[in-house]
Amino acid sequence: MSTDGQASGERASGGPERNGPDTAALIEARFGVAPHFAQHAPPTETVATMLRHRICRRFTDEPVDEATLERLLAAALSTPAKSDLQQVAIIVVDDPERRGRIADLIPDMPWIRSCARFLLFCGDGRRIRRICELHGIEFGNDHLDAVLNPAVDAALHLSSFVWAAESMGLGTCPISVVRNHIDAVSEICELPDLVFPISGLCIGHRGDTGHQVLRLPPALTVHRDRYDDAAFVDELDGYDRRRDAVFSIPPDRQQYRERFGTADFYGWSLDKARQVSATERADLAAFLRRKGFRLD
Ligand SMILES: Cc1cc2nc3c(=O)[nH]c(=O)nc-3n(C[C@H](O)[C@H](O)[C@H](O)COP(=O)(O)O)c2cc1C
Repeated sequence: MSTDGQASGERASGGPERNGPDTAALIEARFGVAPHFAQHAPPTETVATMLRHRICRRFTDEPVDEATLERLLAAALSTPAKSDLQQVAIIVVDDPERRGRIADLIPDMPWIRSCARFLLFCGDGRRIRRICELHGIEFGNDHLDAVLNPAVDAALHLSSFVWAAESMGLGTCPISVVRNHIDAVSEICELPDLVFPISGLCIGHRGDTGHQVLRLPPALTVHRDRYDDAAFVDELDGYDRRRDAVFSIPPDRQQYRERFGTADFYGWSLDKARQVSATERADLAAFLRRKGFRLD
């Protein structure tokens, strides 16, 4: 018997092939290049869900009921957490007034208002300190790692929630732009000291199929035994051209044309370089200090 998910009954199904989706085809769709291996085993449902991921920014009016939400939360809360400290807080923003205020802060992302449910994933450095207080023990880790650990926990839980929701056919869109309004969002959700937003998350029933965004080639993101980016320029150029062939960014969508002009070839890397040329969230460290973190 194959060991790849079969024992748990977790076998992909529904694809055109008798044994489930074609791994090589899913990987080729994800990276825009065929994998080196010949297909030898169909992926599990989980792997197929991840390979098929598409962001969702258009939702139908259909609600996501409480039972579904609870199931997704339970799945997300099964995520491994650093040192078993479980430093995450998830705010389910159901109150229309509060959700409306968050949506008003970010008018260029109307999916915050139109999705069925909106959640806020937060790093929670408060709970462990309260636990220390309860036991009369001094918290001895008031430094940068006390921010990183809850941030990582929150991000992992967000990711798990996304995969769980997508495995049920729902669409999702994380919203890190809540951090551009971190004071206001914290106030709307009444986040106490030592609790900070990492990302919002829109969930709902998909209003369109979206499109699959090609990933950087593993030659750039996966390193064997040692970091090696010797092929950086060539691999990046190949990636820019593969992406452009699938989805070309029109001249009027080029970022900061007033500063940089209109490029003849506007690939992903130029778009991202222009994007990060603008300073965003420079007040984050000040916010975290105000919220009680030392960051030393
Ligand atoms: C942590 C995180 C934060 C994100 N923040 C936003 C956001 O604020 N607004 C938005 O529309 N999309 C947001 N996204 C979606 C990304 O833009 C999207 O994942 C990316 O364009 C790649 O598309 P794909 O997910 O379909 O591969 C976020 C995604 C992640 C993982």
